[in-house]
Amino acid sequence: MRECRRFSNIGRSTRTRPPVPDATGDRSSCCARREAALGRDQKPFCDIDTLRHRYNGSRIPFSHDPCSSLRNNAPPIRPSHIRSPVAVTPLETSSHDSGKLGVSLANLVEVIVPALDAVRRSASSDRMLTIVEVGAYAGDLTSTLVAWGHINRARVVAIDPDPQPSLVELACREPGIFTLLRDYSPEALLTLGSADCIIVDGDHNYFTVMSELNAAAELASPLSPYPLVMLHDVLWPHGRRDHYADPARIPADYLHPHTPGGELHPDNTGLAHGEGIPYPCPANKEGGDRNGVLTAVEDFIASRDDLVHALIPAFFGLSILWSLQAPYAHELGALVAPLDRHPLLERLEHNRVLHVTESRRLALQLSSRHERLVQLHHRIATLRGSRTYRVARLLARVRHFRRMPDLWRETTVVRAEAS
Ligand SMILES: C[S@@+](CC[C@H](N)C(=O)[O-])C[C@H]1O[C@@H](n2cnc3c(N)ncnc32)[C@H](O)[C@@H]1O
Repeated sequence: MRECRRFSNIGRSTRTRPPVPDATGDRSSCCARREAALGRDQKPFCDIDTLRHRYNGSRIPFSHDPCSSLRNNAPPIRPSHIRSPVAVTPLETSSHDSGKLGVSLANLVEVIVPALDAVRRSASSDRMLTIVEVGAYAGDLTSTLVAWGHINRARVVAIDPDPQPSLVELACREPGIFTLLRDYSPEALLTLGSADCIIVDGDHNYFTVMSELNAAAELASPLSPYPLVMLHDVLWPHGRRDHYADPARIPADYLHPHTPGGELHPDNTGLAHGEGIPYPCPANKEGGDRNGVLTAVEDFIASRDDLVHALIPAFFGLSILWSLQAPYAHELGALVAPLDRHPLLERLEHNRVLHVTESRRLALQLSSRHERLVQLHHRIATLRGSRTYRVARLLARVRHFRRMPDLWRETTVVRAEAS
């Protein structure tokens, strides 16, 4: 338990980087701790590929385990020993992520599913678990949760006031295991009674997230006094900046000045006019009190020393909160330790959002220039077909010949002979 507590002491801001849990930076000891916590015969990561194949949704190959060569007394890796390329798991993009920004939580499935596995292992096998997803959109993650629920005796509830057709179809296909509530969180959360895990990815602002974290406290299950809570978008752009799906739902005290269609750039704490990615309704300023998803998480856990907070700095950031009293606390702590606020991941994510923003900005610029070009072509074509244009061309020819008297004379003679 003491090891897990270390996570809660991690610094409050992502800007001042806290020490990584394994202070020695020794990944082999991370693995050893994880293995010891899991038992020798258990795999630390669940086999997503098997999961997906079984439910005909195979898209992600089984992930490469970066620590495997450090186990079983394998010799240390030296560059000359690395011959074959590392298998890369493709970005989980569907038609719902046309900009290939990696917006879906499905990109973090290698963390989410093993966390759920830990919860499952600690519960009695006959108990039906309840997994809730707040903000499910098109169901990119939900379909994996439902597949997992089939194998692991769990029902899935999604709360979304504006679900996409594919999510509605999933609800129709899986009525026994999946329930879609077309409603708003946190109100809808409070109707559930209890939950084992809540995945929060709905309205990304301080007020809503704080209300959701408070609502989760009302959903204690026989397993844990506070459910396992995973929250998306704790890094840029929504970590320190509110975004409002509907500003009318936010009390005036919590509503920051905001701009529909405001453009955001990782290097700009204001709005990046013409230089960023447009968002439906972001706050005008990043930072400060009561602003952003991560700020809400930090303010919430400041009053709860019974909770542990880990942050996986990838794909817009995933916070994981769990109770020290939960039977899976130690296993989960060991599982996320190697990734928690890892400086390498933080740097990669920062670099990724910079490039993603830049390429998105260029793509938008290109498409607006292309549009202008098409408009100009259209105008030229219309002009060329007009009487005015034909007369102007004729006059230009006459002037051209007049400037060359010989040619003019010859042409006149030829014309005269011809007639
Ligand atoms: C970013 S998308 C969710 C993506 C999904 N979790 C995934 O990983 O593929 C956000 C969703 O939250 C929903 N939403 C907005 N406000 C909400 C609220 N108050 N409660 C629940 N869902 C909300 C939106 O309708 C939208 O579908």
